[in-house]
Amino acid sequence: MWAGASTVHGGLDDEELRAHGLARDDVMDFSSNVNPLGTSRLVRKAAAKADLSAYPDRQSLDLREALSSRLEVGVDEILVGNGSTELIHLLARMCLGPRRRCLILGPTFGEYETAATLAGADVHFVEASAARGFAWSVDAATQAIENVRPSLTFLCNPNNPTGVYVDRDFVKRLTTAIGRDGLLVLDTSYVPFAEAPWDERSLLTCGNVVLLRSMTKDHALAGARLGYLLAETTTVERVRQLQPSWSVSAVAQAVGLAALTDDAHVTAARSLVVEAKAYLHAQLSALGLRVLDSAANFVLVRVDDAGELRRELLCRGIAVRDCASFGLPEYIRIAVRRPDDCALLAGALREVLRRG
Ligand SMILES: Cc1ncc(COP(=O)(O)O)c(C=O)c1O
Repeated sequence: MWAGASTVHGGLDDEELRAHGLARDDVMDFSSNVNPLGTSRLVRKAAAKADLSAYPDRQSLDLREALSSRLEVGVDEILVGNGSTELIHLLARMCLGPRRRCLILGPTFGEYETAATLAGADVHFVEASAARGFAWSVDAATQAIENVRPSLTFLCNPNNPTGVYVDRDFVKRLTTAIGRDGLLVLDTSYVPFAEAPWDERSLLTCGNVVLLRSMTKDHALAGARLGYLLAETTTVERVRQLQPSWSVSAVAQAVGLAALTDDAHVTAARSLVVEAKAYLHAQLSALGLRVLDSAANFVLVRVDDAGELRRELLCRGIAVRDCASFGLPEYIRIAVRRPDDCALLAGALREVLRRG
């Protein structure tokens, strides 16, 4: 069994599709949260031009330099990874081990727990409740930090799957409580879709913060695998020493560089997400479903039995995320796609709910 096998994710699973007599092209995927406009033309052209015959640069230097000038962060404060997932696992290996403790603000992305467990750590959670719209209490979170004294804390912002987006003060309170004996990983994978984002870079001066960014969501590069982290130079160097050589392919580096020149694609996607999210909200609310407010490009929706509903929709060629693996068996997560696609989803949901 490979390491990732224990984490449940959205996205299409070929074995399951075949069991339903479906192929990938038969299914409209609302279960993975990538840019609804897909991969940009400019990026696809860069992928086609990448040199497949030579080993890629092990340091992703061109890409780090491009990120550095764009983000005004030192080249040595950036580490590129094979998706942010690789970096999550490397950070867990670096900070955790037997008798070390990891704190996770949940319910959230499952890979944090998997990485911490594989590293042999004790895993603790601060769980947000449905009654509070899944907003964490900052007092409960800082208290948990005092009690657990974690070496590594994970906070996803905006959070997957709830869409909750905490402000800078919330994060500062956590970094202060963590102190210099621990590290806070702030996963900002979905910030590019937030309407009113705040700039996290000033947190780097705290010295105990790692900012984690994925390029697979905003630029629709999930198949290419690309992410990076920003942190103090010494932290970057420690994580880098754990990274296998050539883990970021030549194609990933080439598409990453091209993506950085294509802001317009992400800006267009963000506007589309705002429009389609409002539409989805209205349509699903009219069906009597509770749709939670979300700062990201997905929404959490309360249903009776998420597993059953997901199966019914899949038979109709629509994939949504059953949130049982997040500990939320009464919720589905829906990625925001183009309004036309959202209309098809709303229609299918109407049909399934009427039959039920
Ligand atoms: C919050 C969060 N972080 C990280 C990832 C992993 O992204 P990547 O494709 O960069 O490995 C995901 C993927 O779903 C995610 O939801």
